[in-house]
Amino acid sequence: MSAETKQTAKLVLPAGKEITLPVITGSEDEHAVDIKTLRADSGFITLDSGFMNTGSTTSGITYLDGEEGILRYRGYAIEELADKSDFVEVSYLLINGKLPNVAERKAFSTALTRHSLIHEDMHQFFAGYPPTSHPMAVLSAMVTSMSAYYPDSLDRNSAIDLHITRLLSKVRTIAAFAYKKSIGQPLMYPKNSLKYCANFLHMMFAVPSEEYEVSPVLEKAVNQLLILHADHEQNCSTSTVRMVGSSGANLYASIAAGILALWGPLHGGANQAVIEMLEDVKANGGDGKKFIDDVKNKRDNRRLMGFGHRVYKNFDPRAKILKKMCDEVLAHLGIKDPLLDIAKAMEEVALKDDYFISKKLYPNVDFYSGIIYRALGIPTNMFTVMFALGRLPGWIAHWKEMVDDPQTKIGRPRQIYTGEKLRKYVAIESR
Ligand code: CMC
Repeated sequence: MSAETKQTAKLVLPAGKEITLPVITGSEDEHAVDIKTLRADSGFITLDSGFMNTGSTTSGITYLDGEEGILRYRGYAIEELADKSDFVEVSYLLINGKLPNVAERKAFSTALTRHSLIHEDMHQFFAGYPPTSHPMAVLSAMVTSMSAYYPDSLDRNSAIDLHITRLLSKVRTIAAFAYKKSIGQPLMYPKNSLKYCANFLHMMFAVPSEEYEVSPVLEKAVNQLLILHADHEQNCSTSTVRMVGSSGANLYASIAAGILALWGPLHGGANQAVIEMLEDVKANGGDGKKFIDDVKNKRDNRRLMGFGHRVYKNFDPRAKILKKMCDEVLAHLGIKDPLLDIAKAMEEVALKDDYFISKKLYPNVDFYSGIIYRALGIPTNMFTVMFALGRLPGWIAHWKEMVDDPQTKIGRPRQIYTGEKLRKYVAIESR
């Protein structure tokens, strides 16, 4: 489906100049004023720091309504996908635009299994990193390095489906290897008899000297976590992937840039920051009320991590699913995590507090995901890697949509210059 242009909008500029601009309407009745010709027609640009109201593209991948708490991938509700589908099928859906039939699913799964190994020479890279390395640094560097191992990816007309398969399969292997390296254990090779998420758990937690059985409950939890993270339309990292890709950069380079954008604590790094915040509250013997007080008074610019969202202003549908899942996974594992009690207490206080109500701040996807990762035995500094693994099919789908769109131009915003006007150079002795 493409966007329709049936209406127009009028913009009255200083000196009474009036401009007529097309209005674009999407399939869910969202409207945008198309300002493509504004500067050429009037000399004006629009200014929207942080892109609060700026659409960078039309897209047929994900629909998100922040006021109603709606999230759909290719038209399917996130609640239904998380409940009934699995991560491989959702990846296929995001990238190809439709659910696979039996033969397509089998071919996709077989391809993912076949491409799970990374080049043996790349193992040496892991040895080069200090044990203190953050796994996001390792992951992004390894993904960039993949373009060196598959140099035909530099030609964007090369077998793109093969590069997509490689990425989806090998990023999982790299993530698990980075973890094994960080704890000094031998790398566990992928086991082809296992499904995607079970194979990931095997590479993370198996050791050569012992049998490792993948728990179906944990496998399901990982599938759901990855599905919930799989796409979120034009967020910071996805926009970065599209921006970098718009210059003609190859898929691996574009995805590596997305991984780096995700790392920040206001984006995917928030899941790590939430646990650090909860541990800080616990270490100080509190129930979080003092921390919330500090947040409200903006002491040390503190924020309640895992709260708030640029788009969701009512609730984050992913957080709702995760809160329930958190209780289920911890109950299944028989874990009583004091951080969960602190998180629930802080959520209760915040949701009744005028500061958070008036600013429409609610728990987001990162508030409870970290507690589930902890219960699964995934260390805190790997949380953002898990987010990256989940977001990968979304990034790929957006990169592909951008490359396939004949309207795509290199991303190049404008600015309003606020520096010095032209001045004369003064020789150093005279300054
Ligand atoms: N705690 C306390 N105050 C907050 C928070 C928070 N978590 N989030 C926003 N505010 C306040 C902020 O201080 C500002 O107040 P004021 O109007 O007095 O200056 C107001 O709410 C608006 O905030 P903003 O930063 O202008 O809003 P934004 O839309 O630019 O930021 C956000 C969205 C997610 C970056 C922000 O809510 C935040 O920093 N949250 C904490 C970090 C976090 O959990 N990030 C994960 C987001 S979900 C996963 C993902 O997709 O990346």
